Amino acid sequence: MTLHNDVQRILFTEAEILAGIDRVAKEVTQAYAQRDFTVVSVLKGSCVFASDLIRRIPIPLELAFLAASSYGDGTVPGRLEINFLPTGNEIEGRNLLLVDDILDTGKTLLAVRDELLRRGAREVRTCVFLDKPARRAVDLQPDFRCFEVEDHFVVGYGLDFAGRYRNLPFVGALREEIISAARTRNGA
Ligand code: XMP
Repeated sequence: MTLHNDVQRILFTEAEILAGIDRVAKEVTQAYAQRDFTVVSVLKGSCVFASDLIRRIPIPLELAFLAASSYGDGTVPGRLEINFLPTGNEIEGRNLLLVDDILDTGKTLLAVRDELLRRGAREVRTCVFLDKPARRAVDLQPDFRCFEVEDHFVVGYGLDFAGRYRNLPFVGALREEIISAARTRNGA
């Protein structure tokens, strides 16, 4: 029994993902060709995307991390927590490219962006692996994005459900029974 059995259908194959990242890496390279910048990877979800993305950007960049969690063990948003913010030196006066796995309601990235600007970042742009505009609850569009997705809960390539599935090399929609079984276990 592997994780693949829990996936109802594959939305983006590994080859499609890498082609999408190549495209976005070129856009980012062009946008920052003459400017210093720092990629800020939002953990945990964006670690897979960020590591593939930065290796396709052939100009100088620095790398920083922060952790934001708005999802507990389910598919509905919980309270947002921002941890491990980059140090003041990594933020103040810097051009930051916030990299996240998915822009869903947009609340996470908006809160993180505002916090980085409050702490003195010169500019904050956003780059997301997936964009789910149907669920947007705030006024935020990504500056760069690989793919748009419909309103499915998706896993793989860094995205998790209850902590699992991040290691799938593709993006897939989970089988409905997996989601409802977890909800039943959690008493939801
Ligand atoms: P918001 O709603 O604040 O959410 O834009 C951003 C964070 O929520 C998680 N998220 C998902 N995780 N499949 C996942 O595995 C999804 O379909 C999904 N939608 C939102 C994710 O961590 C993201 O950074």
